[in-house]
Amino acid sequence: MAGLVVVVPNPMGDRVISQAKARGYLSYSAAEAMELAFKRCSACHPEEKILKYCSRCGPPFIVVTHFMKRYIDIARAQGVDIEQLRDAEVVAIAQAWNGIIGNWENDWPQKDIKKLLEGDRALITLLETPEKDRPIEAALKDKSVPGVYMRDGLGMENKEKTGAGQQKKEKEPS
Ligand code: HEC
Repeated sequence: MAGLVVVVPNPMGDRVISQAKARGYLSYSAAEAMELAFKRCSACHPEEKILKYCSRCGPPFIVVTHFMKRYIDIARAQGVDIEQLRDAEVVAIAQAWNGIIGNWENDWPQKDIKKLLEGDRALITLLETPEKDRPIEAALKDKSVPGVYMRDGLGMENKEKTGAGQQKKEKEPS
């Protein structure tokens, strides 16, 4: 249709826009996804838990992100004031951590990942999307983006160096 103009109404409040993004009507930019990831994922534990997470530590972020939804459910059941992550948010957040820290989905059998995702449609769809077709992840990969310097362990030089002797990792939050 010639001359079609998409008007983005300006009076929309920030909150309305962020709600629209969370609901998947508008997509997150890479920077917004990163901000969202840092914000939502540091509600219960320091972000170091994520920044130190690695391919040797456990399943890829797509699975970790799914697991955290369960912890959010538990926290909510205990009366903690925390919102559950919406589909658009988990998809953006999983891509953000994949891009910032690393994506090792290919090191794991797809069917195992799928099983661990327990029918989480949004993340299963992401799993089935090639990395290059994941806009947020592709944008953050190998790019120096504000905040990413933390990936190199700034401020935690002495803690992360030795892989051996670290606490045993038990993945399954049951
Ligand atoms: C409702 C609280 C809560 C939120 C929100 C949360 N987590 Fe967690 N997270 C936990 C708990 C509980 C554990 C398991 C106990 C622990 O290791 O402290 C955990 C553990 C982890 C671990 C360590 C896993 C391991 O075994 O090494 C990673 C990585 C992690 N979370 C990433 C994330 C990411 C990514 C997000 C955002 C999507 C997130 N967390 C949001 C509660 C939360």
